[in-house]
Amino acid sequence: MKACVCDRYGGPERVSVREVPTPVPGPNEVLVRIMASTISAADSRVRALRVPRGMATAARLALGLRGPRKRVLGTELAGVVVAIGARVSRFAVGDRVLGFPGADFGCHAEFRAMAEKDELVAIPAGLSFEEAASLPFGAMSALHFLRAAHVQPGERMLVVGASGAVGSALVQLGRVFGAEVTGVTSTANLDLVAGLGAERVVDYTATDILRGGERFDVVADMVGAIGFAQYRHVLRPRGRMLAVAAEVPDMLAMAWAPFWGMRVFAGPATTKPGDLAQVAAWAAQGVLRPVIDRCYAMAEIVAAHAYVDSGRKRGSVVVRIAGAD
Ligand SMILES: NC(=O)c1ccc[n+]([C@@H]2O[C@H](COP(=O)([O-])OP(=O)(O)OC[C@H]3O[C@@H](n4cnc5c(N)ncnc54)[C@H](OP(=O)(O)O)[C@@H]3O)[C@@H](O)[C@H]2O)c1
Repeated sequence: MKACVCDRYGGPERVSVREVPTPVPGPNEVLVRIMASTISAADSRVRALRVPRGMATAARLALGLRGPRKRVLGTELAGVVVAIGARVSRFAVGDRVLGFPGADFGCHAEFRAMAEKDELVAIPAGLSFEEAASLPFGAMSALHFLRAAHVQPGERMLVVGASGAVGSALVQLGRVFGAEVTGVTSTANLDLVAGLGAERVVDYTATDILRGGERFDVVADMVGAIGFAQYRHVLRPRGRMLAVAAEVPDMLAMAWAPFWGMRVFAGPATTKPGDLAQVAAWAAQGVLRPVIDRCYAMAEIVAAHAYVDSGRKRGSVVVRIAGAD
């Protein structure tokens, strides 16, 4: 099969389309013919080994010394089941499925085997493969942080970086949790964020939210351009900070958070069984809408990585896998 392979850390040109062995599903696995995947912020970071200063050695030990140990990136897939193992009972050949292997990667390929107990669900009716694939990375991350912070109905939530994959999901799911959401974004994305349900949108190129005197119960930061401690100026007493893009200095500074009257939630998002089914259900209900910036063909994988590296994408960048030649 064809797959986008990354042998060495570096720029987008490190990824190339090559022939690799097609996986054979085990007894508890299904084989999915992948129709669409995305290039997520995680794919871009791992490919470039873009990690906080001082963390490169630890990251190489964890991810691979000279290049990613998982040479085929891609955190999410939408496709069709083409074979099932002898013990599989939840899926049948022909099912349209949405999968989220997350940090196990492997979705930038024509086929991927997934255990049926993994994060794998039916694609909601009415969603295209591209739309389905655009959902999990942002929504699963958003769900983790909203749940960790116990966001409550009526709370005021500030979402900084509201137009990206995680931010656009946080705006929408923040509403599902009952929060009143203010989104911070650039001028070009104001309408997008308002359309996702934010009560208010703030253009960070024109307004410094830290100086406006407003207070929020929860702040979610997807950018990390300023240390999370700065947000104590806009948090209510005992407010919660969702430091989604936190880096090591932030994590070290977190010890001080109680003295600043804030609670901080950071670190890698985790999933619980049933989360992807919940995300699919929200999409089926129309309360979680796909946000797709651009679609690339598999042969354009280098250009797709380069675009994601800009850090300015709107929602998800989709890569179409089916029909690769
Ligand atoms: N902790 C975890 O488990 C976890 C999970 C997922 C993601 N992440 C991290 O979270 C970050 C965001 O991920 P993502 O997938 O949402 O990235 P993304 O899709 O690339 O979105 C980034 C967004 O940041 C916005 N932005 C850039 N500079 C800004 C600024 N100064 N103020 C406000 N917004 C700004 C951009 O919008 P404009 O074009 O409008 O500026 C863009 O939409 C990444 O660093 C990723 O690695 C962490």
